[in-house]
Amino acid sequence: MNNCIEIRQVNKSFGKPSKKGKEESLSVLADISLSLRENEFVSLLGPSGCGKSTLLKLVAGLDSDYTGDILINGVNPKEQHVSVCYMLQKDCLMPWRTVLSNILLPVEIQKGSLKEQGERLKPLLSEFGLEGFENYRPHQLSGGMRQRAALLRTYLMKGDLMLLDEPFGALDELTRMQMQNWLIDIWERHKKTVLFVTHNLEEAVLLSDRVLVMSNRPGKIICEIPITFKRPRQRELLLDPAFLEYKGKIIEALANI
Ligand SMILES: Nc1ncnc2c1ncn2[C@@H]1O[C@H](COP(=O)(O)OP(=O)(O)O)[C@@H](O)[C@H]1O
Ligand SMILES: [Mg+2]
Repeated sequence: MNNCIEIRQVNKSFGKPSKKGKEESLSVLADISLSLRENEFVSLLGPSGCGKSTLLKLVAGLDSDYTGDILINGVNPKEQHVSVCYMLQKDCLMPWRTVLSNILLPVEIQKGSLKEQGERLKPLLSEFGLEGFENYRPHQLSGGMRQRAALLRTYLMKGDLMLLDEPFGALDELTRMQMQNWLIDIWERHKKTVLFVTHNLEEAVLLSDRVLVMSNRPGKIICEIPITFKRPRQRELLLDPAFLEYKGKIIEALANI
């Protein structure tokens, strides 16, 4: 199987606001190497500020000021535009647009056929739990529905790679749980390659084929844990002794950062 993402020895620093005259830089990512196979679900887990969102932006091609190499399906996003499905930490739905026109925004931007996508969208709206809410505005939805709308919009972007930055970070515990169950189900049916950022241990173990643990800034990958539970996965796995073992490994890795 092909590697969908190849990241080799990536280092990233930002200029730091400093006192007059001094050039200072803040090292954010240190020697990051990782690869994702096609249709693999990989979580990046690490403390706040360790560079997770920064890494996703580099992979999405939104920032090319780094050293090392990033290849997406063999293409370097510094050299050629690569389409990926990218969802920011916030849902970023536009409040004045309806759910439907928010979801179809990427199609509009890419000048695709709204009619064609509208047809494709019908069954997806029901799978994403949004059927009947097409004409609502974002403020009329629950938090979980807003996230599902944002995920559906992301899913409709071109590209077979999904970059999800803490998509459930702002949700209450119960909604988060429902969204995790729902995402497992959706992903198992629709399979895309996913790089998923989270700081939630259980979420990482439940959803992923592999969990990569990052250190404090400058973020390094300090531990890689393959999660070998069979799919389809059910939430009951959380009670499995093997689940606790995985969590234990992550906690141990995080204790040494
Ligand atoms: N545009 C920027 N300019 C300067 N520093 C930044 C910028 N974006 C992020 N940083 C810094 O990079 C570090 C990592 O940020 P981020 O990638 O958002 O962390 P995480 O997503 O892991 O919480 C933080 O210390 C942050 O202040
Ligand atoms: Mg972040």
